[in-house]
Amino acid sequence: MTTNGTGTHGAVLADTPPERDRPLVELRGAGKSYGNIHALHGVDLAVHPGRVTCVLGDNGAGKSTLIKIISGLHQHTEGEFLVDGEPVRFTTPREALDRGIATVYQDLAVVPLMPVWRNFFLGSEMTKGPWPFRRLDIARMKKTADEELRNMGIVLDDLEQPIGTLSGGQRQCVVIARAVYFGARVLILDEPTAALGVKQSGVVLKYIAAARDRGLGVIFITHNPHHAYMVGDHFTVLRLGTVELSAARSEIGLEELTHHMAGGAELAALKHELAQVRGVDVDELPEEGDLQAPVASSSEGTS
Ligand SMILES: Nc1ncnc2c1ncn2[C@@H]1O[C@H](COP(=O)(O)OP(=O)(O)OP(=O)(O)O)[C@@H](O)[C@H]1O
Ligand SMILES: [Mg+2]
Repeated sequence: MTTNGTGTHGAVLADTPPERDRPLVELRGAGKSYGNIHALHGVDLAVHPGRVTCVLGDNGAGKSTLIKIISGLHQHTEGEFLVDGEPVRFTTPREALDRGIATVYQDLAVVPLMPVWRNFFLGSEMTKGPWPFRRLDIARMKKTADEELRNMGIVLDDLEQPIGTLSGGQRQCVVIARAVYFGARVLILDEPTAALGVKQSGVVLKYIAAARDRGLGVIFITHNPHHAYMVGDHFTVLRLGTVELSAARSEIGLEELTHHMAGGAELAALKHELAQVRGVDVDELPEEGDLQAPVASSSEGTS
């Protein structure tokens, strides 16, 4: 495990256990400045096939900036970004996609009023017949969408229903299955459970595990250490744009991860501030180093 406040990357790499496989995607001392704002600095991250890399951090920590570099929306301004061991610099998301890097954004690129199967093939529709009589191969698209969703363990009653009528969790799952079908090797999920309830979050976590089991390298961005710990193989906590913690699952427990996310010192400061507000009983709040997190009961089944 590596904890540091500077984000120097040598230490992180040295502590990574010997890998059987080369990383699909790797950042080495990568950073990004927007003019004078240093959003990200000295970040190391490796994404391996069949593993889930969780990126945690508070608001403004640099999580979105990090995935924007990998997904081709922004370019890094320092360090290196490698795909299959080769330094790259994407100028459009299309280039990332062509290398098998698919990103599922929180606002999901779906058309709510279109049927599930149409959304599954949006922009990559199957056609049949010779030109100029080429037309949509609806039957084959429906059949394929159905098969692919079932392969991921997603069973929907009716693929004709508008995707907007599915729950948030189901929509996430359809988009994940779509990325897998269209050949993603790396799946980036930006806070897929943020707007979901407990049960729906569980469903999405299940499909993250399914994508991992199919050999994809997954980057799972989340605020929630419990969700991260249920599926994660590696945890990277960002704070103010640098890597505060980088640890393999075997090196860190949920309790410690939660503590890093919460920021013990900040919690103490918050408690002090709340003490100034009438009506808040600060004795009820946890002490620093006293953050007991419940053990995730389903972690065995999903890792
Ligand atoms: N286009 C931009 N121009 C200038 N500053 C930016 C830009 N995008 C992000 N930043 C700054 O970079 C820092 C990191 O932002 P980022 O969006 O990566 O954080 P985040 O971890 O995704 O936060 P959140 O949890 O709120 O989504 C912030 O201080 C933010 O204000
Ligand atoms: Mg963000």
